[in-house]
Amino acid sequence: MTTKSKAAAQDAGYRVLSPADLSAAHGLRAFALDVLNGLSETPKRLSSRWIYDDEGSRLFSRICELDEYYPTRTEAEILRNHTEDILKRAGTDKLDIVDLGAGDGRKTNIMLEAALKQVKDVRYVPIDISEASMGGLVKNMRGKFAGLKVAGIVGEYFDGLHWLSQSNDRRNLVLFLGSNIGNFNKVQARVFLRQLWEALNDGDQVLIGFDLKKDIELLLAAYNDKHGVTAAFNKNLLKRVNRELGGDFDLAAYRHFATYDVFSGAMESYIVSLKRQTVTIRDIQSSFEFQEWEPLHTEYSYKYLQSDIDGLASNTGFKILDQYFDNNGWFTDSLWQVEKPSL
Ligand SMILES: C[S@@+](CC[C@H](N)C(=O)[O-])C[C@H]1O[C@@H](n2cnc3c(N)ncnc32)[C@H](O)[C@@H]1O
Repeated sequence: MTTKSKAAAQDAGYRVLSPADLSAAHGLRAFALDVLNGLSETPKRLSSRWIYDDEGSRLFSRICELDEYYPTRTEAEILRNHTEDILKRAGTDKLDIVDLGAGDGRKTNIMLEAALKQVKDVRYVPIDISEASMGGLVKNMRGKFAGLKVAGIVGEYFDGLHWLSQSNDRRNLVLFLGSNIGNFNKVQARVFLRQLWEALNDGDQVLIGFDLKKDIELLLAAYNDKHGVTAAFNKNLLKRVNRELGGDFDLAAYRHFATYDVFSGAMESYIVSLKRQTVTIRDIQSSFEFQEWEPLHTEYSYKYLQSDIDGLASNTGFKILDQYFDNNGWFTDSLWQVEKPSL
């Protein structure tokens, strides 16, 4: 999907603040620049945030349905059981539900349905870097919930924070679901949450989905499903480079590989070159050599202990109001409140 014109996006119910293909200062698009940088590094890397084009978003929706991929259904269970309580704690008539990295919003549905019953004036503000996801999401939400105010934003998380810092007349409940926080390492997570704290007002609340440390076999299966959907999702990064930047990655000559680092607590995803080969990418006028078995890093997904969550909240200025778990204790949605000293 190409970026829509400003007017067309407005009609579709969202604004585009920083589309992935906006020109960067040096004339290269942000995606192209990131590909150039990432493939020039040792070890090579490509950020997973570029996976979510039309095809990547579709593949991720299929991953959410897989038996092995427990995070979606466990978090849905948590929201089904605790949304009423979460909304009660927001305790307001005027609420913005801000969904950072909203994706297809399939779990947010649960919250919006309850919010329309419990809260007088509710507005839904999904923020996602993927315009492909946003178009479908806004359409679905408008179709499902007549009368729901939706103000979508296509942009980076940081655009979302900027937007938040400028709109301060309503109570915010910020959703950061699906273990999106896990894509940050622990330092990045702390910096991000402190920036979120700065953008919010005293009393605003944040609901963060943390994937918890658990049986390593469960983790490995979740990122190595037997139908190969996760492999296709990961390799979609290469396809996107081929499609949008004129790359010539031979997909059959690479494999998906996911592993768990017990020490850092991260599931790590890679694409591994099965032979010595050269890839040429027309739009960045560059070629890159891959040796046989050379890895290309694509994603981290950090898993948490309760003590990590407690430390993160207290180090970034939040108070943990409550902590909700699924029946297996595999995942938690942690409800935090912004605490700002009165000066
Ligand atoms: C794993 S999906 C989770 C979707 C949803 N929150 C859920 O729980 O199912 C991650 C979503 O975050 C978006 N995303 C990733 N990096 C982002 C960034 N830096 N800024 C904004 N959105 C981002 C992706 O486009 C994708 O839709």
